[in-house]
Amino acid sequence: MAPFGDKARKYPGGFIDLSQGTPVDPTPQFIQNAFSAASNSPSYPVVAGTATLKDAIRKWSIEKLGASGEFDVLPTIGSKEFIALLPTFLQSKKVLYPKVAYPTYLVSALMASAQATAVEIDAGTWPAADLAWLNSPSNPTGQVQTDQELTACINWARKNKSILASDECYLSFSSNAKSILALANGDNTGLIAVLSLSKRSNLAGYRAGFVVGDSKVIDQIRQVRKHAGLMVPLPVQQAMITALSDENHVKEQAERYNRRRQVLKQALLSKGFKVEYSEAGLYIWCTKGEDGYKTVDYFANLGILVTPGAFYGSDNFVRIALTATDESIKKAADRVSQ
Ligand SMILES: Cc1ncc(COP(=O)(O)O)c(C=O)c1O
Repeated sequence: MAPFGDKARKYPGGFIDLSQGTPVDPTPQFIQNAFSAASNSPSYPVVAGTATLKDAIRKWSIEKLGASGEFDVLPTIGSKEFIALLPTFLQSKKVLYPKVAYPTYLVSALMASAQATAVEIDAGTWPAADLAWLNSPSNPTGQVQTDQELTACINWARKNKSILASDECYLSFSSNAKSILALANGDNTGLIAVLSLSKRSNLAGYRAGFVVGDSKVIDQIRQVRKHAGLMVPLPVQQAMITALSDENHVKEQAERYNRRRQVLKQALLSKGFKVEYSEAGLYIWCTKGEDGYKTVDYFANLGILVTPGAFYGSDNFVRIALTATDESIKKAADRVSQ
């Protein structure tokens, strides 16, 4: 990426970085206040989370994810560490991950010396494995999987007595996307939903995430995490409780991303780009029908840095992040249109 970044930085009208999905809108003030108010924190936090945080996650999971039946919850230090360590915690031998995906699923399997296999969305084509990853809405494509597709994944997990880990970190930004827990009909055996407040509440810098699902699996993970010292700091736990108590700021943020998506998408379509999926999440996934690096170069000539699809397993696409201010997105759209 460095040569493209160097080229884009030389653009006279200013550099626009749309290569990283890192939130730029402020952490809501009421969440910052909860964090500050909890800053006197001399004791170690417990790995399992405080009783109040566990209750808040449990309540949110029932109301917002549609979880039912018996399940447990566990806070995590953002969701990336959990994704990176899950095959290690479970001592998985065979791991499935989506063909076009966030790279950490593959890296985490390699970290555990597991055999990693990239699979299509259709779980009917999946081989047997100990663990499979899902990600809806997807990074990088913004694809939202249908109920039927998700149910096929759940059925695969039940048939193979495997673990299905569903990365749902963009779920709050889509009214169509469903949690696997909403489709489990109260039988959460083998199911783990992985959630994050990084994007939902602009808390990426706090490192705040949690997992919800099969009590036995979560207990096994909790035991290992205790020995590994993987604790969420107490001020962050307080901020999480406050963030989970409010949906208005989430709605506002979702609207912000949707506006940005429309502005940029119109400009791309007017120049003959094909935009695929890109329904939800933080990205536009598009192609000019050429090698993705060529398209990255096209954007670099306009002072804009985007990511080649090859980073995620698809050569002819690029991923454009919507995590820039309204002003920057408008500027980027104008440059493309002109
Ligand atoms: C699909 C997906 N999962 C997980 C993460 C990790 O997010 P965090 O560790 O901030 O919760 C990201 C970050 O961009 C992501 O795109």
